[in-house]
Amino acid sequence: MTHITVIGTGYVGLVTAVGLADFGHKVTGVDLDTSKISVLQKGKSPIYEKGIEECLQRNIKAGRLDFTADIADAVSRADVVFIAVGTPPRPDGSADLSQLESSMDCIADNARNNTIAVIKSTVPVGTNRRMQERIFKHNPAAKIELVSNPEFLREGRAMQDFFHPDRIVIGTDSQEARDVLEKLYSPLNLISVPFVWCNMETAELIKYASNAFLAAKVTFINQMSNLAEVVGADIHAVARAMGMDGRISSKFLHPGPGYGGSCFPKDTRALAAIGDAHGVNMSLIKTVIEANEQQKMRVLDQLKAMLGSLTDKNIAVLGLAFKSETDDIREAPSLTVVRELLRASARVTVHDPAAMDNFCKVIPNLTAASSSYMALENADALLILTDWNEYRSLDLRIIAEKMRGRVILDTRNVLNKSLIKEYNFIYRGSGYRLD
Ligand SMILES: NC(=O)c1ccc[n+]([C@@H]2O[C@H](COP(=O)([O-])OP(=O)(O)OC[C@H]3O[C@@H](n4cnc5c(N)ncnc54)[C@H](O)[C@@H]3O)[C@@H](O)[C@H]2O)c1
Repeated sequence: MTHITVIGTGYVGLVTAVGLADFGHKVTGVDLDTSKISVLQKGKSPIYEKGIEECLQRNIKAGRLDFTADIADAVSRADVVFIAVGTPPRPDGSADLSQLESSMDCIADNARNNTIAVIKSTVPVGTNRRMQERIFKHNPAAKIELVSNPEFLREGRAMQDFFHPDRIVIGTDSQEARDVLEKLYSPLNLISVPFVWCNMETAELIKYASNAFLAAKVTFINQMSNLAEVVGADIHAVARAMGMDGRISSKFLHPGPGYGGSCFPKDTRALAAIGDAHGVNMSLIKTVIEANEQQKMRVLDQLKAMLGSLTDKNIAVLGLAFKSETDDIREAPSLTVVRELLRASARVTVHDPAAMDNFCKVIPNLTAASSSYMALENADALLILTDWNEYRSLDLRIIAEKMRGRVILDTRNVLNKSLIKEYNFIYRGSGYRLD
């Protein structure tokens, strides 16, 4: 049986470890963060992700999955090591590879000969090859084959994406590594998942190009939405009709307060930095990054225009996660918006079904409401930033009873508009006018 070790048990590493164990492999998940490991050893998931805990417990019980903080030991027992550590942005936008480098040094010191190291983390073009050289410099006797296997999962649907990916991209020059990975992922052949075999640089660029394209698509529809509001067009009809064109597709055409999360902001900035490093003009990506920052600030401008002033106003903010179905708040628009509201001396009450703890760790001393309706008590304005399903069914009659003001800024267009006029709300959504 192939023994796999996964370094890093964050969103990507944990899903990879649990998914590969469910394929029938023997998997050990390792992390520097001992608190995460002790939670995992109890069969609990440290992240909010649909279906993960059940799958985690099933595979622990079957004896296929375990967790340890002893990274050297776990690496020494593995045939294949997956690396899914963070690659956060440095202040200049380029990727900080220190977590990856220390993982590589640990692999060079501890892995058996002929171990295959698979980098899942998103890394700048050229990194896999540099890491291969780093291993050989660190330990010239080590015989380790490096493979690039970028990850495309979406938080909130990560388990579904692991078992039903659109494609698997694998960058390697080694036939042996290819044979091993083909076998590891063979359950996906049953559902005819396409495999893209390429060199490492191509695999690395596929990941950045995909994320940058999606970020640009979101930014595009956001700007069309801003225009639709002014010219009296309906962005939903625009997006729907655009999406009917097979060349465009209907996905990622939903307007909102700007993209966030641990990937798009970081990866667009890293791609711009990669272009700069190679003297290649990345003006399109740089414009997307700037437009996205403006989109977040636009929420503040709109709210201010609707309220007259933000000072001393009670603002109920519903939705803190960067998107629904996750507890992840990394680079979420809510962080910018809430910080700016506080800076403008507004009083902010927040609610999110999953991300409240994470948010209040970053911005403490906020009033955190235990339900969406509780957040609305005495509010002058309601601001919706995340498209959680539970906000779609909010009852406008109860909202009207709870709030003292009438302003609603629904940046995700989740509320049912039919009763907006009946309760005299001053309502704005994204990308259309409520006439
Ligand atoms: N989150 C996503 O949706 C997503 C999707 C695709 C790709 N990615 C990429 O995958 C990578 C991981 O992302 P994530 O969101 O899972 O990150 P994360 O921050 O949730 O998890 C990283 C984990 O690695 C651990 N770690 C760091 N250094 C370590 C070391 N030397 N040894 C052992 N553990 C170590 C950290 O403690 C942490 O638990 C990033 O490069 C990211 O860009 C993320």
